[in-house]
Amino acid sequence: MTVVRAPGRVNLIGDHTDYQDGLCLPMAIDREVRIEVTPRVDGEIRVVSEHDPSAYVAAIRDRVTTGIDATVTSTVPVGSGLSSSAAFSVALLLAADPTLHGRDLALAAQELEHRASGVPCGVMDQMASVFGVAGHALLLDCRDLTVEPIPIPAGVDLVVIHSGLPRRLESSAYAKRRAACEAAAAALGVATLRDATEAQVSANPLARHVVSENERVRASADALRAGDNARFGDLMLAGHASLRDDFGVSTLELDLLVTLCTDAGAYGARLTGAGFGGCVVALVPAGTDIAGPVAAGYRARTGLDPQVFTVTAADGAGVM
Ligand code: GLA
Repeated sequence: MTVVRAPGRVNLIGDHTDYQDGLCLPMAIDREVRIEVTPRVDGEIRVVSEHDPSAYVAAIRDRVTTGIDATVTSTVPVGSGLSSSAAFSVALLLAADPTLHGRDLALAAQELEHRASGVPCGVMDQMASVFGVAGHALLLDCRDLTVEPIPIPAGVDLVVIHSGLPRRLESSAYAKRRAACEAAAAALGVATLRDATEAQVSANPLARHVVSENERVRASADALRAGDNARFGDLMLAGHASLRDDFGVSTLELDLLVTLCTDAGAYGARLTGAGFGGCVVALVPAGTDIAGPVAAGYRARTGLDPQVFTVTAADGAGVM
């Protein structure tokens, strides 16, 4: 028997940029999918999992010829925007074909996700799950698929807070936004919005988000390298405002959580992932307890119980 693992991810900044050849700054987290694998001689793929894996098993069948018995366990909360399905796709591919690695593994997992879920996702989640480096965020260029690990400075905690609401309308709203970005790029005569200038997109809020977000990722990477946490926090807040006002993927609950985080002493916070529900991520001076006041304030205003957990940056997927 072998065991493979693949982590979830949290994106520190750079959302809705990956499918426009853009930049993002995710990190793999210490929450992961594990699969115990034993080979089968009959070529069948049998997966035992708490969540119905049949769409993924059907989608992987054409790709691999080996048979496996796979038992899945996961500590990545499902439906929260922490890429539980990307982690599962990466782990399942590794289970079926342990020779897959690097970009090939990430791209195969993205394709598996497209086929199994029908969501036309970008490649950020799979790249983060594959290329994670403990203690580092990953500056990811989705045009050439290069990854630069940048150390997370000492003295900060990364806190993830789940709004308690599943992501609503996610797949259709996501696909619509992606299509609108493609249309905006085509109208400008550029391959993707990565090639557009701020002046070109000033009248189109969706495109404006993508172009400004790429700049914020560059600036955030600089702030991280310089250990300038206050600057990083300001960029997170600006990124959240852009996702809310220009890209239209926030919710009142996520907006409230961001405010509660900064009120409780975070340098900054923002929704993370696709939006429409799910989680916010906050950059916090190490040891500052934001969990108590954020949870109390959120409960008082919404009647909902948020889930709060600190995450650390973990290594990427592999055979254990
Ligand atoms: C989801 C997708 C990613 C990315 C984010 C938004 O997580 O799977 O590819 O587009 O949304 O940044």
